[in-house]
Amino acid sequence: MRIVTVLGSPRPGGNTATALGWIEDKLKAGGHALERINVIDYNMSGCTGCNTCKLEPLEPGCIIDDDVDMLLKKLIDADLTLLATPLFCWGFTSQLKTLIDRCYSLKKPGEDGATSLIAGKKLALLVTSAGPFEGNAEALDMPFDRICWFTQTVPAGKLFLTGCTSPEEMDEDMKAQALAFAQEITG
Ligand SMILES: Cc1cc2nc3c(=O)[nH]c(=O)nc-3n(C[C@H](O)[C@H](O)[C@H](O)COP(=O)(O)O)c2cc1C
Repeated sequence: MRIVTVLGSPRPGGNTATALGWIEDKLKAGGHALERINVIDYNMSGCTGCNTCKLEPLEPGCIIDDDVDMLLKKLIDADLTLLATPLFCWGFTSQLKTLIDRCYSLKKPGEDGATSLIAGKKLALLVTSAGPFEGNAEALDMPFDRICWFTQTVPAGKLFLTGCTSPEEMDEDMKAQALAFAQEITG
């Protein structure tokens, strides 16, 4: 399977990167081809809602001159994309949200309804948070389902790792959850 992971954290050595690293190691050991996108390495601007992308049927076709079209082409070529984000103010990081908004350009109008350039691909979500799921992380749960619906992708799984304080404090139970998750999303 061709897998793209997206590290949505601004901290390349942080909690999310630690959990994602466990998952990536397991995926690579399973023989999957893997590429990581670190959002902070790229120039990404917010969607302006101009709808010019709707005029280009086969490419993202965004008129903004930044790195996002190139990144979206990686998602188009992948079988599975894993979005990984720390919970920032009950939602995605602003960096990852920018990329998600720009996935709007993947949805193309057609005579039989709109179709997505990543339709049928798998999409998965990893979230790390300091607090619990209840009363805190639910605000990421439904948006992920909606993103799958909008992009016509297949939900491959969600993992919420709560109680994350520092990478050093991430324990064996979290690692076990991450490894099981790697199995789940490729199964
Ligand atoms: C700006 C900011 C906002 C945060 N908001 C929340 C939050 O709403 N709920 C929560 O449980 N943790 C929150 N946290 C804690 C992080 O989600 C948590 O520590 C996460 O594991 C950090 O991952 P990272 O090391 O990859 O950045 C926040 C942290 C920051 C820096």
